[in-house]
Amino acid sequence: MGILTDDMKRMLDEQRLAFVATVCPDGTPNLSPKGTTMAWDDDHIVFAHLHSPQTVENLRHNPAIEVNVVDGVTRKGYRFKGRGEVLDSGPLHDRIMAMYRGDTGHDPLRDPDRRVKAVVLVAIERALPLISPAYDGGATEAEIVAEWEEYWQRLRARRATSVTDPV
Ligand SMILES: Cc1cc2nc3c(=O)[nH]c(=O)nc-3n(C[C@H](O)[C@H](O)[C@H](O)COP(=O)(O)O)c2cc1C
Repeated sequence: MGILTDDMKRMLDEQRLAFVATVCPDGTPNLSPKGTTMAWDDDHIVFAHLHSPQTVENLRHNPAIEVNVVDGVTRKGYRFKGRGEVLDSGPLHDRIMAMYRGDTGHDPLRDPDRRVKAVVLVAIERALPLISPAYDGGATEAEIVAEWEEYWQRLRARRATSVTDPV
């Protein structure tokens, strides 16, 4: 059995957005969002390099990587630590590209052959759950979901009725 559980894979595939941290040459952190993040197999996550020059440059020198995915409604998620490899070509690159094209049943990425500069394969070494302190008082997931569904509905309503600045 691999490191990634079914629930981890579900969350990665549902959320379509993860935050990826790498290490810059000067030792400072680099964190950026990747909306193409998906589970690849029981031990690997992938994302597509569309516009991620610093992440990719960092990984070519230092494979250390951490990936966070959080569901903004359940306020739960996962953090994955591992090693990232940039794949510019080759059989594995081509199989991952087939997934982004939609050949394997996943929703396709728009125009992947033109937009994807490389793919990043992350070998997961440690996976841990993330849970919001909103649960500290004993709230159930259903209660937290109701609270945050209401928040997002209020935000949508506010956006729909907001007056555009005429300037
Ligand atoms: C919601 C969202 C999703 C994104 N998804 C991706 C992605 O999947 N792949 C990618 O290369 N860039 C993606 N980007 C753009 C990068 O995060 C952005 O260009 C960033 O500045 C790259 O920083 P980096 O060079 O440090 O990785 C996304 C940006 C946002 C806001």
